[in-house]
Amino acid sequence: MKILFFALAVVLCYILWQKWELTKFRVTEYRVSSPKLKGRACAAVIADMHGFSYGRGNRRLLEEVRKLNPNAIFIPGDMLVSKYSGTYEVALRALQELARIAPVYYSYGNHESRLRNPEKANHPLFMQYMSKVKEAGVIVMGTESREISLGENRVQLSALELELDYYEKGRIVPLEQDYLTEHLPAQKEGLYQILLAHNPAYAGHYIRWGADVAFCGHNHGGLIRVPGIGSVISPQLTWFPKYDAGLFQEDGKNVIISRGLGTHTFHVRIFNRAELLAVTFLPE
Ligand SMILES: [Fe+2]
Repeated sequence: MKILFFALAVVLCYILWQKWELTKFRVTEYRVSSPKLKGRACAAVIADMHGFSYGRGNRRLLEEVRKLNPNAIFIPGDMLVSKYSGTYEVALRALQELARIAPVYYSYGNHESRLRNPEKANHPLFMQYMSKVKEAGVIVMGTESREISLGENRVQLSALELELDYYEKGRIVPLEQDYLTEHLPAQKEGLYQILLAHNPAYAGHYIRWGADVAFCGHNHGGLIRVPGIGSVISPQLTWFPKYDAGLFQEDGKNVIISRGLGTHTFHVRIFNRAELLAVTFLPE
């Protein structure tokens, strides 16, 4: 009887703790610098929101973004959950508000890419969602590059939308070494390079391609994190993903992987608080 009571108490504590963990997010700050930058600038990065709302109309998330007074808002995909059309409206409202704060650049995650398929039941709804998102002034990017202003800097912003084959469950499908050079326009000499790339499994490719900073999501921090080890499993069901969350640096290049702001399917976050990224860009 005592054991049963103890087990019930543990389950109850876990449920309460998860309910608390899943409704909070933190602001994680990063600084990147480069001689290619002329002045200080700030960007908010929102990844994997999956139609989640922090307070009514995402009030708490929007407040935090406003406080940052960002020069740009970068979204490396998965604003919604492809199979739950109710998440589209939440994502749309958040995007409409975000576009009033700063220019929003939104690239595709696997959930958006899936909905491009006209055979998907939610495809017509997704097309309506996308047209309203664009009407709100959000700049939606497929695999492409554009030159943008970031504070007093001119930078080149690229977005990478990978085919769904690269999201196969249970394994990481090898990506051809020259995939990025073949699919993206050439980098303009002397411009700071920002890349929005949903899938962090190919962080090495992003660095070798020459991204000064790449923003990724998709892993949700690995759902469960073990101190000293990191992510246990990715939403793509790969164990102990190498590129799990946080900052990875090589040859002066940066890949920043967000733990995301929402969840789907497995609503679990253990030692893995959701996060909004606040990135400061500095001249070197
Ligand atoms: Fe994803």
